[in-house]
Amino acid sequence: MDQRPIGVFDSGLGGLTAVHSLWRILPEEDLIYFGDTARVPYGSRSREAILKYARQDVRFLRSFDLKAILIACGTVTTTSLAALQAENDLPMVGVVEPTCRRAVLMTQNKRVGLIATAASVRSGAYEAALRRLDPEVTVFSRACPLFVPLAEAGRIRRGDVVIETVAREYLTPLKNAGVDTLILGCTHYPLLTDVIGDVMGPGVELVSAGEESAFELKRMLKARELRADERRRGETEFYVSDRVEDFERTASLFLQEDLRHTARRIDIERY
Ligand code: DGL
Repeated sequence: MDQRPIGVFDSGLGGLTAVHSLWRILPEEDLIYFGDTARVPYGSRSREAILKYARQDVRFLRSFDLKAILIACGTVTTTSLAALQAENDLPMVGVVEPTCRRAVLMTQNKRVGLIATAASVRSGAYEAALRRLDPEVTVFSRACPLFVPLAEAGRIRRGDVVIETVAREYLTPLKNAGVDTLILGCTHYPLLTDVIGDVMGPGVELVSAGEESAFELKRMLKARELRADERRRGETEFYVSDRVEDFERTASLFLQEDLRHTARRIDIERY
């Protein structure tokens, strides 16, 4: 048993989709969440910039005595996971592998859609993992660069004409390609599940990178005997690199919990 907290990070709010699942499946664990809200979005940046940011995020999280880190960010996982794992002597879980495993299990017609940030699509990491897991799968990929800024601005609801128009434009080609499974390969995208589901229709399974990474973390903790005492109730601390009020407002909306006055701001450039 290990009562130390787990670090979770993302460029902004997206990693909360993993936190949401962690609260359900690992309620006894303490979490330290960092959202790099001053520098979001990562997905439109170069690999070098993303790796630099990710290293700072990890250095900040490691100022706590952690037992593991969940990289709750598709963009950091696709571009930087191997480097971060090589540099850090603590277990790190990313989102790509578990998400692809689930997608391969779900698809019946072997036509899988992938939506992710531009950096993730460019990296080819999801496609490579899917092909390795099932060479018969055909992957249809699409970068959706406007989804992250819209989600960060809280434009996540059904009936919001802006997000609905953008979603239709991005997703119609994937729907027309006949995919039966769609990977939400950026952890922000499950915030838009209703809107995405409406465009794709009921015959398409949505696979959330946030949720699958949470399950993977649970498996890893169990395998390494790092789980906390199941009788305790864990706590979550939130840190961001820009205004706490904006983060708290949208986070409360999504997590359906009042998070006012809970987040703290840090200067990520110091790390
Ligand atoms: N939520 C992140 C991801 O999973 C990053 C989005 C971004 O900052 O562009 O890719």
